[in-house]
Amino acid sequence: MSASTPPVNVTVTGAGGQIGYALLFRIASGQLLGRETPVRLRLLEIPPGLRAAEGTALELEDGAYPLLHGIDVTDDARAAFDGVNIALLVGARPRGPGMERSDLLEANGAIFGPQGEAINAGAADDVRVLVVGNPANTNALIASAHAPDISAERFTAMTRLDHNRAVAQLARHLHVPVRAIDGVVIWGNHSASQYPDITHATVDGRPVTDLVDERWLTDEFIPRVAKRGAEIIDVRGSSSAASAASAAIDHIHDWVNGTGERWTSAAIVSDGSYGVPEGLVSSFPVRSVDGAWRIVPGLAIDAFSRERIDASVAELVAERDAVRALGLL
Ligand code: NAD
Ligand code: LMR
Repeated sequence: MSASTPPVNVTVTGAGGQIGYALLFRIASGQLLGRETPVRLRLLEIPPGLRAAEGTALELEDGAYPLLHGIDVTDDARAAFDGVNIALLVGARPRGPGMERSDLLEANGAIFGPQGEAINAGAADDVRVLVVGNPANTNALIASAHAPDISAERFTAMTRLDHNRAVAQLARHLHVPVRAIDGVVIWGNHSASQYPDITHATVDGRPVTDLVDERWLTDEFIPRVAKRGAEIIDVRGSSSAASAASAAIDHIHDWVNGTGERWTSAAIVSDGSYGVPEGLVSSFPVRSVDGAWRIVPGLAIDAFSRERIDASVAELVAERDAVRALGLL
């Protein structure tokens, strides 16, 4: 870092919550953007969460992070997003036991229109937005729709946690390190309808489909990954926080720094690839090239995968129609 490297403005919403607490210290330490890049943090909360966010800010200060060039805490979205380069939209209500993420559609969807407008009003030209708050795909769609001056490619939603879960479950089943696994894809919605696809996956170059049986794939692997969020809520008593923060770091880190040849999964605006209607925010296999997500083209989709992708995409269409009917889009 040269003395003159300008800090990157990173805004985290819901900064007083569980994910915020797991995320902010990692950003301050350089794990989001690299150990050469200074950051200025803006913590956005609603009034009931402000004290918790202020407490987190005090602890950030006490970390004496060399890369941390300032912390502001606010409940004013316009101030929080003024000049923002990286926006992590975490603030939203989590689901509890027995709920689906789509049960949060109306309550949480209403958060993302005004935040989209505030991003539109003040963000830097290179802004990158990651929506974590659920239902993340449709919330990203809402935010993007309220930011007409910003390319829809700049609004993404997080399925990296699902991707990481799929890689970890495969590695565990096959008794190999996670690093040996390549080519997993999460398709569709960050919900129980998502499709964790191992058709193209390899372990040290060998096709995974040669190593796992179909029963394990359909009865264990796919439901385990798709319902892992509910399992965490059941066992932990509240929704995933540290693993979600870690996945958010992975998503932004790869978006900014590039993925190389290996692909990952992210929910980005569809260009119509793989039969996903243009404009929906859906999870795809993606590489980050020159600072932009690119959908990996030309993967063969078999009949089993087609059916699963179509089912998850149908849910995204239904969510889009529901928020449209609520006047949120
Ligand atoms: P939490 O309840 O601990 O924290 C949420 C915080 O958001 C609270 O402090 C609340 O005051 C704040 N908030 C609410 N509305 C706000 C607004 N309009 N502006 C700014 N802040 C606001 O919840 P959490 O565990 O941190 O989870 C946050 C969200 O992330 C939930 O919706 C959860 O379901 C979701 N989540 C998504 C993934 C994913 O993979 N996409 C993973 C885990 C959790
Ligand atoms: C998760 O996948 O852990 C989060 O989306 C939280 C949830 O509600 O499942």
